[in-house]
Amino acid sequence: MTTLETAIRSVLDTAVWAPSGDNSQPWFFVLRGNTVRVHLEPDRDNPILNFKLSGTYIAHGALIENIVLAAPLSGLVASVQFLPDPANPHCTAEITFRETSVPIDPLASSIRNRHTNRKVYENRPLDPETLSAFSETVRPIKDPQLFLVKNRAAIHAIAGASAIMEQVALETPKLRELFTGDILWTAEENRSGKQGLHIDTMELPPPARFLMRRLSNPTIANLVNAIGFPKIARLTNTKLYASAPTMGLITIPEESPAAYLAAGRAFERVWLEATRRELAFHPVTGVLFLARSVQQGTTRGLLPRHFKSILEANAEIKKQFGAGKKNTPAMLFRTGYAEPPTARSYRRVPDIRTA
Ligand SMILES: Cc1cc2nc3c(=O)[nH]c(=O)nc-3n(C[C@H](O)[C@H](O)[C@H](O)COP(=O)(O)O)c2cc1C
Repeated sequence: MTTLETAIRSVLDTAVWAPSGDNSQPWFFVLRGNTVRVHLEPDRDNPILNFKLSGTYIAHGALIENIVLAAPLSGLVASVQFLPDPANPHCTAEITFRETSVPIDPLASSIRNRHTNRKVYENRPLDPETLSAFSETVRPIKDPQLFLVKNRAAIHAIAGASAIMEQVALETPKLRELFTGDILWTAEENRSGKQGLHIDTMELPPPARFLMRRLSNPTIANLVNAIGFPKIARLTNTKLYASAPTMGLITIPEESPAAYLAAGRAFERVWLEATRRELAFHPVTGVLFLARSVQQGTTRGLLPRHFKSILEANAEIKKQFGAGKKNTPAMLFRTGYAEPPTARSYRRVPDIRTA
């Protein structure tokens, strides 16, 4: 293996620590000389939530941003051409590497340490300098806009609107099936890097964890619904999300693969900045994905009785952030101070094919 190839492989090893929905890691790479083509795998993400592959494109935005940030750690510079092949929108980037020494972006050292923290956050506000650092860090990415909210009433309203997702997911058989099927129940499974959420990373209270394990049985699922568990889950999660001192929304001006890639890049930069500052961070996105499906009439698997509350929740989130009509919400998150998570996710070995 040439030193260039070793360096490129080391960049990809680091970059795949990017976030993806349910840790789906929907990517593979094709390496040829000093060029890597990044490809998406369309079937890895939740087919109901992943409307028009938007979640997959966001994850790729984060991955590609990581590649650019990580390249100088291996003595390389990466130049990216996004969506290089108009005939194949599943090829998200062509990246050309050059061996040269350039300064390392401080965000690069947070790539492997970035993680999701689903715990209750402390009631301690973020200082204004941190909030302006978040806004600053997305500035180099054209188009996505970052909105931040720290007002308690607004956070409570956003938390309540986003927690609709838990109720919808538990009451919708197809979503429930996909959701429970994606849970990794053992630490060994998690360490194998397999896609899915390790149960310990979900930070569930013991009764919820007990029920979650049994939800794949339809009789138990019906019983759990009959006793009002979905509503309890919504209220519990409203409180959990509202514990954060700050929530953020990334919006895009139009829906397209390019716009979602840019949203993913901006999102990753904010998350890395939060990691650098030792802040806890948690994406809370389900409702946004469902709302896009309902708005465009692609509601396969969803129950019509939920459409109204999904659309209202999406509108409430936009309103609380002051995002105008032309802004499509792409990613929603909460951030603040918290104890470290009980467990973290792992990654599979990057799938690098040679051309
Ligand atoms: C597009 C996208 C949507 C996500 N949505 C959620 C979400 O709604 N709730 C959540 O708890 N985590 C969400 N996540 C976080 C992923 O579950 C997480 O990144 C993944 O499991 C890997 O774990 P890590 O972030 O700790 O590395 C999302 C991540 C991405 C990229």
